Amino acid sequence: MSARSSLLTTAALLNRRTVLAGTCAAGCAALAGCATYSAGPKPEAAPPAGGTAAPQPGGAPAPLVKTAEVPVGGGVILAAQQVVVTQPTAGLFRAFSTTCTHQGCEVTSVADGSIVCPCHGSAFSVTDGAPTEGPAKKPLPEKAVTVSGDAVTLA
Ligand code: FES
Repeated sequence: MSARSSLLTTAALLNRRTVLAGTCAAGCAALAGCATYSAGPKPEAAPPAGGTAAPQPGGAPAPLVKTAEVPVGGGVILAAQQVVVTQPTAGLFRAFSTTCTHQGCEVTSVADGSIVCPCHGSAFSVTDGAPTEGPAKKPLPEKAVTVSGDAVTLA
């Protein structure tokens, strides 16, 4: 083997290794992403006693949202509190966990009377959190709320 062909062979081998390493890195990243969703529901952090909202001075939980900010027939997702507050009919407020009961993604929108999970297309009723579309079979867990004046607060 000549010095030139040896150099070419070494260069070809390095290129193949580089390609394989790049493929492995991309494949490993893809597998890591799949593992996140196939590992089952995400463990939910235990909310502090009295709800997820920070308590106000005096021990009362802080309001989640103002009633006027929750559309009738729709809802508002409060990602930081992991709560979706809905108003199925005027003056009736409900709240649910934002963690999808299929594989633990966070729901991201409320449209046409449904709370929607973007991961696999599950949708849940704004009225009772029951699954209406997609692979989820269990309702979103409900969270008790109270309405005082113009504020909706976790009970
Ligand atoms: S995690 Fe699969 S639909 Fe929500």
